[in-house]
Amino acid sequence: MIKNLFPSPIYYAPLASRGLKKLNGELLEESLKFSQIDDAGIEWSEQNYRGGYTSYGSIAHLHQVSTTFEDLKTHIDKHVRQYIKYLEMDVDPKQIQMRTCWINIMPAGAFHTMHIHPLSVISGTYYVQTPKNCSSIKFEDPRMVGFMASPPRKTKAQERNQHFVELKPQAGNLVLFESWMRHEVPQNLSDTERISISFNYDWM
Ligand SMILES: [Fe+2]
Repeated sequence: MIKNLFPSPIYYAPLASRGLKKLNGELLEESLKFSQIDDAGIEWSEQNYRGGYTSYGSIAHLHQVSTTFEDLKTHIDKHVRQYIKYLEMDVDPKQIQMRTCWINIMPAGAFHTMHIHPLSVISGTYYVQTPKNCSSIKFEDPRMVGFMASPPRKTKAQERNQHFVELKPQAGNLVLFESWMRHEVPQNLSDTERISISFNYDWM
C-alpha cells in the first residue's frame, strides 16, 4: 500500500458557467485602461515588473474601486469557499476574505521569478487573455528545502513525482493555491500580451 501524505492541492476551474464572456470582456477593457492611465503603477512596474505592467504597487484593491472587479470577486469568493472546504481548514470561511486584487499585463519576454505571497492564506489568479505559447504558472515542490541526497526524478516521471509542475492557463479559468506555495511565471514566449488578475485572501 502507498499512502500519498501531505499533498499540495492546486485548484483550477472555470470562473463561472454563465455570463463569463461579458465579464471577461469588461475585465479586459478595464485592465488595458488602467495600464494606460495608472501613472503610479506604470512607474512602479518600471522598477519592479520589468517589461510589463502591474497595478500591485499602485491600485491593489481593485475589488473596492471597480464594480467589474467586485463582480469578479463575488465569483472568486465561491471558489475560495470550496477550496477551503476541500482543504478542511478549521476556520470560519467568512474570515477568509479578499484583501488585495491587482492586474498583471505581460508582453513578450516578460517574466515573474519564484515567490510566495506572505501574510496571506489563499492566493490565485484569474486569466483574462492567454494567447497561444504564453507563459504557464510554474509551482515548486514545497519540500524542496528538505531534499538533501534525494535523487532527481525522471524527466518523464508522473506529475505527482515531479518537483516542478507547470499549469497552462486558459482565459476564463482561475487557479487557487495556498499562499506559501512557491511559484513563478516563466518568460512569455507569445508576441501577444498575457493578461491576468491576481488576488490574495487573508485571515481577517
Ligand atoms: Fe504570485
